[in-house]
Amino acid sequence: MGAEIPVLTIDGPGGSGKGTISALVAQKLGWHLLDSGALYRLVALGAQKQGLALDDEAALGDYARDLDVKFELVPGSTEVRTLLAGEDVGRQIRTEACGNAASQVAALPAVREALHQRQLDFRQPPGLVADGRDMGTAIFPDAGAKIFLTASVEERAQRRYKQLKEKGISVNLADLQKEIAQRDARDSQRRVSPLRPAEDAVLLDTSEMDIETVLNEVLDICRQRFAGVLSTS
Ligand code: DC
Repeated sequence: MGAEIPVLTIDGPGGSGKGTISALVAQKLGWHLLDSGALYRLVALGAQKQGLALDDEAALGDYARDLDVKFELVPGSTEVRTLLAGEDVGRQIRTEACGNAASQVAALPAVREALHQRQLDFRQPPGLVADGRDMGTAIFPDAGAKIFLTASVEERAQRRYKQLKEKGISVNLADLQKEIAQRDARDSQRRVSPLRPAEDAVLLDTSEMDIETVLNEVLDICRQRFAGVLSTS
């Protein structure tokens, strides 16, 4: 079911560049994009709006199963609007607080189970770029190409700092670095679908690479692995 539709998985910790790279690769190939982290962020945000505790596994699992979310393309642009129960929450889900809350709810098996099928549904022709922590290990183990992006904690904190600053969100760099290290630990040590490279993933350390270089490496891998389905470039 859908297994013939090509998938590229890009996993890695926050700040490794996977969000940016995934979006650029999807655009370049004309494939769909699954930002799975956004789903966990939406569950965390929505649950908090409903007054649910972030450790109430049963309630969070139910909430995640019925999550009322729509990703809407803004007509005439490449911008995607994220609507949670009709409310545009694109900005609210990008805060560090929401990322941390997402990491907490993502450790709950009931939440991961509830979001599983929703993620599989993104596999639509002509192909999918899936960005996350467990795309290559748990959600799309049959993906035609798997990449694991990483970078040092210091470098990732710097990148996130810059990104947030550009968005007008002010944070303290040292706090950010501490939070990133804590989130890495929680995401890597959880029992279900921990953050780790799939055995058949290509590992890319992006600490010393700029976006252009990473993008070219990833596109090279796609051209090799998906030679049969990619017509040009
Ligand atoms: O990639 P991100 O920062 O938007 O993800 C937010 C949190 O969601 C992250 O700390 C861990 C969790 N997550 C996950 O457990 N599995 C995924 N496939 C994607 C994200």
